[in-house]
Parts: sequence; C-alpha cells; structure tokens
Amino acid sequence: MAELPIITFPDDNLRIISKEITVFDSNVKTLINDMLETMYKMNAIGLAAPQVGCNERIIVVDISKEKNKPFYLINPEVIHSSGGIKFPDRCLSLPGIYGDVRRPERLKIKYNDLFGNQLKLEAEEIMASVIHHEIDHLNGVLFIDYLLAG
Ligand code: NI
Repeated sequence: MAELPIITFPDDNLRIISKEITVFDSNVKTLINDMLETMYKMNAIGLAAPQVGCNERIIVVDISKEKNKPFYLINPEVIHSSGGIKFPDRCLSLPGIYGDVRRPERLKIKYNDLFGNQLKLEAEEIMASVIHHEIDHLNGVLFIDYLLAG
C-alpha cells in the first residue's frame, strides 16, 4: 500500500465530474487500499478518489472511533434521501476551513463492490453526512459551496 498526496483547493481536479468504474480489476482494489491508508494517515473519516488525483467514482469511509471499520463504495449513487441535519464539516482538500453544513439525515445508496455486484446501503445521521460529502466530491462539489450558498 502507499500513501497518496492530497489535492487541495483550488485545484481544477476537484471540480471534475468523475468517471464511473466499469472494469473491476486489481487496479481498483489497489486504489481503494491506498485511499484507506491515506485516510487513516491523515486521521480523516472519509476520502474520495478525486482528492488523490484520480477522477473515478470511488469513496472510502470509516467513522468508527477505533478506526477499524473501513468500507468503500464504488459508483455510489443516492437513490433516496430524507430529512436534514447539520454537522460541522471539514475536508482534507480545504485545510483550515470549517463550517456547519446541512445534509440529508437519511440516505439510501446503491453502489458496486469490488466484483461489480450492485448492492444497496442505508445510512443515517453522521454516516449519511460523511457519505454525502464524499459523493459530492465525485460531482465536483465542495462543502464550501453550501456555505457560500447560505
Ligand atoms: Ni472532502
């Protein structure tokens, strides 16, 4: 595994719509492992592939205190969202910036696993917020966009 350099604002790569994964090979697995290592090294709870210069639709998350519940989502897509809840937000790509962002309280997501199988996941509260933040990265959206929008 390798730790990857983090791309920071205002790099244009953070504003690109990332590409769907269509080939589920060992490169995808390597990227996910490297992203997890990078996330843990940076003491973050989520990371999206565009943040390491790879404009592909992959996110990794671990909100556990013990940092022992890693998971990854390939081609994640929100199929249902409801409610709204504000959490303090921050981002490795926006060092030193903090702000409260209102996001859906509950999410239903479809995604692929490493073999290309399509799975579904339900998340709520902080987990929903983190996943929503990371999926935003795949669409070129940063949390400061919400702050600017009021
Ligand atoms: Ni972020």
